[in-house]
Amino acid sequence: MIVDDEEGPRQSLRIVFKELYDVVMADSGPAALALARSRRVDAAVLDIRMSGMSGTELLAQLKQLDPRIEVVMLTAYETVETARQAIRFGACDYLTKPFEISGIRDAVENAIQRRQLADAMVEGTRRLQELQEALRDQQLKGELARSQNEIYASVMHDIGSPLTAVSVLLEMVNADLAATRGGGQSPSVRDQLQRVGQQVSRCLEISRRYLNYARDRGTGTDSVRINQALADTRELLRSHPHARRHRLEVGLMPADLAIHMNGTDLVQSLMNLAINAFQASPDPLVVSVSANYHPQPLPAALMTDTPRTRFLVREVFLNQPPLVAIHVQDTGPGISERHLDKIFDSYFTTKPTGEGTGLGLAIVRRLVGNAKGAIRVETVSGVGTTFSLYLPVREV
Ligand SMILES: Nc1ncnc2c1ncn2[C@@H]1O[C@H](COP(=O)(O)OP(=O)(O)OP(=O)(O)O)[C@@H](O)[C@H]1O
Ligand SMILES: [Mg+2]
Repeated sequence: MIVDDEEGPRQSLRIVFKELYDVVMADSGPAALALARSRRVDAAVLDIRMSGMSGTELLAQLKQLDPRIEVVMLTAYETVETARQAIRFGACDYLTKPFEISGIRDAVENAIQRRQLADAMVEGTRRLQELQEALRDQQLKGELARSQNEIYASVMHDIGSPLTAVSVLLEMVNADLAATRGGGQSPSVRDQLQRVGQQVSRCLEISRRYLNYARDRGTGTDSVRINQALADTRELLRSHPHARRHRLEVGLMPADLAIHMNGTDLVQSLMNLAINAFQASPDPLVVSVSANYHPQPLPAALMTDTPRTRFLVREVFLNQPPLVAIHVQDTGPGISERHLDKIFDSYFTTKPTGEGTGLGLAIVRRLVGNAKGAIRVETVSGVGTTFSLYLPVREV
């Protein structure tokens, strides 16, 4: 903004700056203030000696209106002392008349740069505040997660005792059966009892894992062989009530590999994924579980979200080959795009009350994250859904 009560200097300044900036002009202090109120002014060149409101007075009022307006004062030689005073009021520079074009250009450029810097600082402070708020949010979430952990831990702990009792009772039943009629009980009863025993052990193992997790005692050296985990998953799902009506296909790896993950965690993750798939439709579906070897890091294309795909847990994923991908694929109805962002949230469920807790995928996310792995989900409406777990290989 150029402010001078004389037409001549105003026009010559306009000519100097019209190619460089968006220039507006005012012929008096009040006109300049009205302009500054109605539009954004980054910098102003003010003549000091004007009839009515002086340049110095205008400077003070402009700064009051918007302290970020940078002001260059123009002055005749005899008022240099006034101009120096103006600097104390917050002007960024002063030039004596008649001025050199290069001098006034530099002064204005400098003023604009100061303005940009000030804007950047305001923006920086705003971002900082935002970040601080986000941090506070995070801390709150952390506290919430910690109290949730305590709840999980006490539930797991309390469930542990009756489970241990069940397991002891099972042993006694087994012993009694073996004693009656010389151990000749029907093979199917023996088989079923053995399976009950396995499930109880699994429950005990899960509760032990939860307790360890809640106590933050990571068992860093865990590893599991993929084919063992796949075979266990197949065995556990074989007689699972949700698997009825559906077909399960489990493909073992041609060359077995071990990965850095606790075996129970992996089986539990695969079970949660497969059971979700079985629950996706009352109509018969095919659910297949398979694994393949990735000698290279995952390509960025696989890690980019699209309306039908999500990739998580990016923050912890070590994309260091070799990796193994384990896929749980179903021919179900798919997941709607509007749910895709929420399915891994704790307590998100589309199932009727009492049927789903909405914790299954949140648990998978946590267990895979603990193993520094990643999860990718791809879903196509009416065609099916594939969950893929990418996990670091321990040995080939
Ligand atoms: N294979 C799938 N096909 C279609 N929808 C799925 C599939 N897997 C998950 N979902 C959706 O994701 C939601 C969240 O799954 P999650 O396992 O976290 O909870 P849940 O299965 O509802 O409850 P819970 O696992 O505690 O019994 C499900 O309610 C379902 O809407
Ligand atoms: Mg589930």
